[in-house]
Amino acid sequence: MENKKYYITTPIYYPSANFHIGHCYTTVIADSLARYKKLHGYDVYFLTGSDEHGLKIQRKAEEKGVTPKEYVDEVIENAKDLWKSLGIEYDRFIRTTDEDHVEVVQKIFKKLYDQGDIYKGSYEGLYCTPCESFWTESQLVDGKCPDCGRDVEPASEEAYFFRLSKYQDRLVDYIESHPEFIQPVSRKNEMINNFIKPGLEDLCVSRTTFTWGIPVTFDSKHVVYVWIDALSNYISALGYLTNDDSKFQKYWPADLHIVGKEIVRFHTIIWPCILMALDLPLPHQVFGHGWLVINGGKISKSLGNYRDPREYINEYGKDAIRYYLLREVPFGSDGQFSEELLINRYNTDLANTVGNLVNRTLSMLTKYFEGIIENSEVKTEYDEDLINLVINTESKVEKYMELLEIPEALDSIFEIFRRCNKYIDETTPWLLAKEENKDKLKTVLYNLLESIRIGAILLTPYLPDTANEILRQLNTSKKDLDTIKEFGELETNIHINDFKPIFMRVEKKDE
Ligand code: MSP
Repeated sequence: MENKKYYITTPIYYPSANFHIGHCYTTVIADSLARYKKLHGYDVYFLTGSDEHGLKIQRKAEEKGVTPKEYVDEVIENAKDLWKSLGIEYDRFIRTTDEDHVEVVQKIFKKLYDQGDIYKGSYEGLYCTPCESFWTESQLVDGKCPDCGRDVEPASEEAYFFRLSKYQDRLVDYIESHPEFIQPVSRKNEMINNFIKPGLEDLCVSRTTFTWGIPVTFDSKHVVYVWIDALSNYISALGYLTNDDSKFQKYWPADLHIVGKEIVRFHTIIWPCILMALDLPLPHQVFGHGWLVINGGKISKSLGNYRDPREYINEYGKDAIRYYLLREVPFGSDGQFSEELLINRYNTDLANTVGNLVNRTLSMLTKYFEGIIENSEVKTEYDEDLINLVINTESKVEKYMELLEIPEALDSIFEIFRRCNKYIDETTPWLLAKEENKDKLKTVLYNLLESIRIGAILLTPYLPDTANEILRQLNTSKKDLDTIKEFGELETNIHINDFKPIFMRVEKKDE
């Protein structure tokens, strides 16, 4: 049998008590893709987690008078709670402080050192003594430390370096010969022209000026610095270089790393070179998505446009937030977020198009047939068009999902619900009822319910709660993908009596 595995990852997040709606974006997309692949029979592994080392965390912990581990232990719960409230179903939440990760990073570092890909040198930079931080010329603000605004001075520090430059040519060859590796294609061009072709410099991979990091086993003054620690999570999570590497054997290479555009560089330059040095296959694809912005600008606590995403989830429900993130932003580009846009989407698509359709149809079934689903041989002139559209939607969705065009995939599912609403207008069931045209009315209601069932099954990866609730209200046991290949699988003589509106319209707020 064909090996249908799918390994998908999000970046590991910096632990924070202030996650905003933008942070939810990568994770909701990854969750929907993971669910989509599962629905299609893939053996899926979905990894997310947290990136817990570094000077910033060490400082925050010092400010609070706790150890860095105590600090991260506390804030990490915030991420887990947020993912739970969004219905994120990951297979592992890896923390870079997990013992197994720490050991694997130490082994990777040693292996690269032993084979000569890591060497000891000295790091030259501009040093801010109070902040204990090195900066490059371009990071300075008005010639001063970007963190505290004080003077910086040239300094050097003993450090280990990874031979990134050695892999430059192989990397360019790989990227050119694997057009699917960096997506969207604009990001590929940016990487090659702006970063790789001008020349890769060896990368500083250890520090001695702070202690909150993974110790280098053979040189206790040093801790592993940022990217080797963070990027290795994608393989340490699977047990690479451990006694039980069965998951690694099964799932590596990753099928998809989804990352925000600002970290595409690390995932498509540093990460592939580390993997080449380890003699491991490269991930199939790195997709760099755009940012969610507010009024064209960054979402941030200091700008005062930050709200805890749970406030929106509590007010509109998790599926409304998932829907907004998946539907509103063209995947790969930046997209706006505002509560007004969220309410518009919610009212138009969720409350009107789907919610109202389901409720209206089930109410008619109750009114005209006491809630019993029946079908008849009598057709209407509008059936064929409806059925064709419904039956062809699955393959449309597949084509879009292949290209990660998630908003288009979702829209084509909503096309089913829009078409159903039109079918109601065309067939005017209330007139059929008046005319005592019961057979035609049975057909119309059956076709509507069957179309809704198929639409709901297609919706499950994106809006799992909504889809399950629709299928529950339909009282059907036909919930799998193989029940939507043909139109007409919905059971007849089933009694429906337990239903309520799934989405209630919300009033616009004064900004
Ligand atoms: N720790 C690193 C990643 C290491 S991966 C080996 C990191 N963490 S982060 O917490 O700053 O960001 C996590 C993810 O959230 C990134 O993909 C980032 O692009 C995404 N987003 C943060 N703000 C965002 C928006 N406003 N909009 C969309 N995504 C955003 O980077």
